[in-house]
Amino acid sequence: MHSIVRQAVRTAVVAVATLAVAVPSSASTPATSAGASASASPGPGGEPLRRAAPRDLVVGSAVAGGGHHEEQDYPDPFPNDRPYRRILGEQFSSLSPENQMKWEFLRPTQDTYRFGPADDIVRFAKRHRQVVRGHTLLWHSQNPAWLENGDFSPAQLRRILRDHIQTVVGRYAGDIQQWDVANEIFNDDGSYRQENIWIRELGPGIVADAFRWTHRADPDAKLFFNDYGVESINAKSNAYYALIQEMQADGVPVDGFSVQGHLSLKYGFPSDLQQNLQRFDDLGLETAVTELDVRMPLGESGEPTRAQLRQQADYYQRFLQACLAVRDCSSFTVWGFTDKYSWVPFFFADEGAATLLTERFEPKPAFGALRRTLREGRPD
Ligand code: G3I
Repeated sequence: MHSIVRQAVRTAVVAVATLAVAVPSSASTPATSAGASASASPGPGGEPLRRAAPRDLVVGSAVAGGGHHEEQDYPDPFPNDRPYRRILGEQFSSLSPENQMKWEFLRPTQDTYRFGPADDIVRFAKRHRQVVRGHTLLWHSQNPAWLENGDFSPAQLRRILRDHIQTVVGRYAGDIQQWDVANEIFNDDGSYRQENIWIRELGPGIVADAFRWTHRADPDAKLFFNDYGVESINAKSNAYYALIQEMQADGVPVDGFSVQGHLSLKYGFPSDLQQNLQRFDDLGLETAVTELDVRMPLGESGEPTRAQLRQQADYYQRFLQACLAVRDCSSFTVWGFTDKYSWVPFFFADEGAATLLTERFEPKPAFGALRRTLREGRPD
């Protein structure tokens, strides 16, 4: 579908969905449960998520920009959407650049770095007393064509990766709380992904080198593995569990394991999430939730039902509860807080409504569920 048409359809769909969500079910009990504020100042009212959270947990959001946003007819979200920026600053204590620190975005040519948008995020974070998660240094996806098609020798590739890490991590040294050093390096069966140029051309040992180089460039940043489909105990998370123990035995600086958490109501909740996070915690690691969203099939009408929104709230809440129950699960991030900019409808036909707020920034039941759960804090 042409993007303008698609955008118009989405806007209409969301307008209907918004009505379904925001109309109070009774005079005293808003269906949104979090209390939508007047349209002059859109966004959730009441206590912000970051303030409801226990002191040892940061609550984060991806910062919209780059990637699928570049194909849309709206202005670049982060610099231009004022209500969006206000909510981002008010609600969250951690920011993750959605695309602005990825190779493709940062390195239009081999000799050029485009740091401006990432610098803006880091500056915004400082002003709002937020931490930043760096995303990402070694990945198979969103690499520039000059890199993927460059016909470099192994020695050249190694130097390119090392230089990139020194330059990027060095630039933001002291400003990044956690780096996703290696992203999505395993297939579902636990084998290494051969479409990852670094692993294919240089062998899996390059992963440990990336951690060493990152640590050297910023000794204070916590260094993470990050992946999707590793919420449960399965072949892929087992591969991380084994690799991390090998790296620890070799003295490689690895600090954390994070689960992205791109869920769909279609596939159910990963009920062994807490147990899985706990086994990484038991290795002495920090754990984190880095990209949570909960999409749902929208059917003909294109709007979520109340039952779907309730189930979505339940998934968000249980995800947070699992993190809170694991001592060093220290960072809980959603992959965007509003459906206005979510990546989901561009990747999954007929699925959407995955985030905490509607396109008009009205809170869904999931927002209230997270806030209540944050207030409850960690279990004794
Ligand atoms: O680069 C191509 C370009 O060559 C082509 O002409 C154009 C035509 O559609 O597409 C461009 O690719 C886009 C890509 O970003 C490049 O920046 C894709 O369409 C676009 O969908 C893609 O979106 C990003 C996606 O990562 C790429 O994997 C999303 O904005 C971003 O939210 C998403 O984030 C990832 C995390 O980084 C890692 N975990 C999963 C998560 C969701 O996919």
